Amino acid sequence: MKSLEELKRIREEAKKLTQIRKGDHGTKIVVGMGTCGIAAGARQVMTAILDELQKRNITDVIVTQTGCIGFCKYEPLIDVYKPGQPKVTYVNLTPEMAREIVVKHIINNQVIEKWVVPNS
Ligand code: FES
Repeated sequence: MKSLEELKRIREEAKKLTQIRKGDHGTKIVVGMGTCGIAAGARQVMTAILDELQKRNITDVIVTQTGCIGFCKYEPLIDVYKPGQPKVTYVNLTPEMAREIVVKHIINNQVIEKWVVPNS
């Protein structure tokens, strides 16, 4: 059996890991990679995002993926999380649109409203 001290330490470590995964300390982009997302071109969108970030030497943005979220008709889609701002969901993306999101939203902090999911 673990001591109370050990349990507290484990809890603190788990908390830190969760915060890192949530990207609480910076910008995070989540790409929908369910089967329909992949079929609609999510891999190319992910590649375009990573490429654009790398080209611009941006290393403090977390890019991750999620599975099926039940939004088939909007795939490929991404969620953008920036500290202190509400989540923004971009839908029906192409790799070119994804690159533009990196430039306008991630770098210049301008949400591209016309690509945001309706009623979000
Ligand atoms: S199968 Fe399309 S969002 Fe899950």
